Parts: sequence; C-alpha cells; structure tokens
Amino acid sequence: MASRGSFSSKIGFIAAAAGSAVGLGNIWRFPYEAGENGGAAFLLIYLICIFLIGFPVMVGEISIGRSTQLNAFGAYKQLGGKKWGYLGYWGILSAIMFLSVYNVVAGWAFAYFIQMVDGKIMHITDFGTHFSEQISDVSDLFFYSLGFMFLTAFIVARGIKKGVESASKILMPALFIMLLALIAYSFTLDNALEGIEYYLIPDLSKINLETVYNALGQAFFSLSLGMAALITYGSYMGKQENIVNSAAWVTSADTAVAFLAGLLIFPLVFSQGISPSEGPGLVFVVLPGIFASLGAIGPWVGAVFFLLLCFAALTSTISLLEIPVTYLVDEKGYSRIKVVIVTSIIIFIVGIPSMLSQGAVDFFTNFTFYEGKVKTIFDVVFDIFSDVGLPLGGFLMSIFIVKRWKINNFHEELAKGNPSYKGSFMEKYLKFSISYFAPIFLGAIFVLTVLQKFFGIKLI
Ligand code: PHE
Repeated sequence: MASRGSFSSKIGFIAAAAGSAVGLGNIWRFPYEAGENGGAAFLLIYLICIFLIGFPVMVGEISIGRSTQLNAFGAYKQLGGKKWGYLGYWGILSAIMFLSVYNVVAGWAFAYFIQMVDGKIMHITDFGTHFSEQISDVSDLFFYSLGFMFLTAFIVARGIKKGVESASKILMPALFIMLLALIAYSFTLDNALEGIEYYLIPDLSKINLETVYNALGQAFFSLSLGMAALITYGSYMGKQENIVNSAAWVTSADTAVAFLAGLLIFPLVFSQGISPSEGPGLVFVVLPGIFASLGAIGPWVGAVFFLLLCFAALTSTISLLEIPVTYLVDEKGYSRIKVVIVTSIIIFIVGIPSMLSQGAVDFFTNFTFYEGKVKTIFDVVFDIFSDVGLPLGGFLMSIFIVKRWKINNFHEELAKGNPSYKGSFMEKYLKFSISYFAPIFLGAIFVLTVLQKFFGIKLI
C-alpha cells in the first residue's frame, strides 16, 4: 500500500489542527452565542469548559489517532475491537453530514465576500430581507457552495503535507492578521467601549445552567471535538511529537480567535446601537448593515471580514473531508485522488436538500416540528450531528479510554515525545478529567439535549 503521508513537523500539525478548530464556529457562532447568553458571563463559562473538558478530550482524540496511525474506524477497532469500530463509523458519518451543511454556510460567506467586493452591498436598505432572499435563492448559492467544495477537494487531494499542511500554514497567519487589522479599526468607532465592556466585564447573575449547556456545546463545536477530526489528524502525527503540548497550542489558538472575534464584533454592534442577541443572523444581517453605514471604506472592511470567514471555514472543511477520505484510503486501499472526487461529490449532493431548505423548497423548509418550532432539514442535520452528536462522541470517547483502552495505555502514548510527562501534574489532571469530568458532564449534556430537543422536556 502506498504511504499514507504525515505532517512534516510539529508546526505542520498545529497549523492544520488549529485550522480545523478555527472556523465558522469561532467567527459566526461564538459571537452570537455570547451575545445571546450574557456576553462576558458566557465567555467566562466558555473558558472554564475549554479548560476542564475541551482540552482533555482533544488530547484523548489525538492520542487515539497517533497511537494507531489509523482512521477513526481503524483506530477504534484496533484498540477496542470490532464493536468499538462502530464509534469510528459514527464519527465518519457525522463528518459527512456535518460537512454537507457546513459547506452551505461557507457558500453564504463566499457570496457575501463577492457582494462586498463588487460594492452591491451599498445599495441595500433592508439587510434582513436581503439575507433571507440570498439564502432562499439558490441559483447563485449553488455555485458558491460548489466552488467551496471544489476548493476543499482540491487541497485534500494534494495530500497531507502538500495540501492540508501547506494551505493551513498560509491561511491561518493570514486570518490572524486580517482579524487584528479589523479589531484595530473597530476600536476607533464611537461607543466601541460599551461593546468591550459588555464583552469583558461579567455580570455573574446572568450565569445559569443554560449558559453552561450552551458554552459546552460551543466548546465542542469550536474545538472540532466529538467527530474524529482530531483522531484523523492525530494519525498523521509523528511519534516523536509532544501531544499535550501540541493540543495546548491548538486549544489556545482556537480560543484566541474566538475571543478576538468577539472583540471585533461587539464594538461594531454597539457602535450602531444594535442588540447583541440577534442570533445566527448576527454576522450575515447585522454586520453587513454596519459595513454599509461606514461609507466608502465599508465594502472594503466587509470584504476583508468575509474573506476571513471563508479562510476560517476552508481549513475546517478540509479537516472534515479528510475524515472519510482517510478512512477509505486506509481501509479500502483506494487512491486518494479517486476517493476525494467521489466523497466530495457525494457530500455536496447530500447537502443539496439543506441548501434548498432556506425557503427554496417548501418540503425541506417546513421539514418537521419539534422544540416548539418548525425545523428545516438544515436544522435537523445540525441538531443531530452537532448539538446531540458532538457531546455524545466525546462522552463515548472518554468511556472508551477508561473502560477499554485503559488510562495507562493512554498515558503511555502521551509519554512518547514528552519525557517529563510521567508523574507530572498534567498526568493526574488528564486522568481526572477523562475519568470523571468529561463523561459526567458530556453524558448529562447529551441526555438533556435529547430530552429537550426531541421530547420537549426542558429540565433546565
Ligand atoms: N471547529 C470547526 C469550527 O469552529 C467546526 C468543526 C467541527 C470542524 C468538528 C471539524 C470537526 O467551525
């Protein structure tokens, strides 16, 4: 069998894994979650969730991949037997479904980037209506999403080192620079300080169980956990690398970008006297309105912003496509190029109903009803494979490490490339988190989410 490839260095792994983590989750989802859940109070709880659960689960996933040097299915099967292999299948299925909708949102970001560049945005008066029209009229969107999938496939087809790693090494620093430049600009606006205060000074009375629930879900989405993305990337990591240290870099980069995205968006939102709790439309409805009101510079600021969003999304779609691709290359021995072409076409087709569910086709738009609302097929896929699926994946992974693989083997893997690991505080900390924190909290979140979403029982 041809060599499956590997990252060239520690930096290569970190750039790619941080690229996976930094995505729409940081720039699109994090600000609206924070805006709806009390700003600074949410930020605080979010950081605690990252520290107590997110980081240890990330270390767990990477170690499973690195230990076996195999795809999600192969890795679980090798370490735990055939039954555990199903958990790998679940990760691969989740990646396919999740990518099919994620790519639709990436297509929106692409469409908005183009509209900023051609200045169309300056002639719009009602941005809410404009957004609904945009996402319901799929004649353009079809091609934007297709273009996005094509770009993703092109990079993944070039392989781990030449494709995934090189693209991440360029896109990630570019993203950072754009983000910092936009923040510097947003700080110059009137009332920017009010936004910064809302975002940084916590009002502890706003914290309740729902804040914790939302923050943990956001942490999993943002860190790319619970779906085997990091098992897959971990499988391309050399045995001499330090997993704990690499995971710490990835977690910090992801958290920094989410934090900075808030620091950009809240001053912008407050400068226009708009409520921060606008929900998912925040980035697509509120921000374009703000850009348009900035005068001649507006479309340029907007273009940079949406390019940033596209870059962030691209390094995440790459990691999602890599999950089924690695599986098929490892297990079936097919050539990478063939596998990339076939899987990306299938995933794009699977995403078409979600694309049509924003008003274009009634059947997909009014697909079903639960949680007291009409749900589109897009909502259903995200609910199952993100809100419910990610905590479930993390929960089962921690059970797997404790009950099947055993904590000692987990520690052995972490000690490779990290001579001072044995006996360290980190060793005790990870053991505690993976054995207690992660399974208890993630299990509880899974049960609560299922009850709330599908049975209408709201316990918190
Ligand atoms: N972490 C990505 C984001 O923040 C999404 C993602 C989730 C990617 C799971 C891969 C796996 O947008």
